Amino acid sequence: MAHLIDGKMLSAQIRDEVKAAVALRSASGKRAPYLAVVLIGEDPASASYVKGKAKASTEVGIDSDTMTYDASISEAEVLDIIERLNQDESVDGILVQLPLPAHIDEQKVIHAISPAKDVDCFHPESVGNLVIGLDGFQPATPAGIVEMLKRTGIETSGKHCVIIGRSNIVGKPLANLMLKKGIDATVTVCHSRTSNLAEIARQADILVAAIGRPNFVTKDMVKPGAVVIDVGINRVDDESRERGYRLVGDVDFEAASTLASHITPVPGGVGPMTIAVLLQNTLKAAK
Ligand code: GUN
Repeated sequence: MAHLIDGKMLSAQIRDEVKAAVALRSASGKRAPYLAVVLIGEDPASASYVKGKAKASTEVGIDSDTMTYDASISEAEVLDIIERLNQDESVDGILVQLPLPAHIDEQKVIHAISPAKDVDCFHPESVGNLVIGLDGFQPATPAGIVEMLKRTGIETSGKHCVIIGRSNIVGKPLANLMLKKGIDATVTVCHSRTSNLAEIARQADILVAAIGRPNFVTKDMVKPGAVVIDVGINRVDDESRERGYRLVGDVDFEAASTLASHITPVPGGVGPMTIAVLLQNTLKAAK
């Protein structure tokens, strides 16, 4: 049976580190870091993620404000709000929760955020720094995954990391992070048009599933002894639950855990790590 990588426990370590650093800052007379969160529309999953980010910020002594807007807000209004946050010296980090309503151009909004406040690491300048290996903000979910591997003592150097999913939030930035000097993995990125996906996945020493499809990764895609990282957070109907659904990952957990050496659960795996890195980034922004 695979060893369970406990994202809750590992993220608590990081949150404690951020909390200590924030306390040290305030002891030297500096104000608390401040994170501005913009939430547009009614997507229940987005609302839930934003709530988690705000709660975690408060717990470590980071001030945060969640600004919520109706889905009918215009693109120009959103760009105005971002410009005000860019100019406001009391704001250290700006996070616009994605996805945005269809009439708002996501890339335009991301482009408007000052790179100095881009705690999501979504701005092209931040992404560029990541690709060429310069210091800057860390992409939250990918950096959360790397922290998990490091803190679990999993070797990455020379290992074959297969990433399923090519999103701008996870697949692409994770590929770049895993390639970085010091992490040194060999990286393959698969996606919906990949031929022989199962065959490629089976070659992975570290297999990362980030496609947003429940139970996509089946037993035949896992090499015995592989480390399996499940980024998926999918809501599936479940009448036996009070809220009417349960969360499942992209991996068939029961099957994969009979083969993997290590595996992350959903929930309680990658999700909490993402929030922990966001807190690290907000602290960095304040510095
Ligand atoms: N939507 C899904 N994941 C994220 C994230 O990490 N940041 C933002 N801003 N939106 C998201």
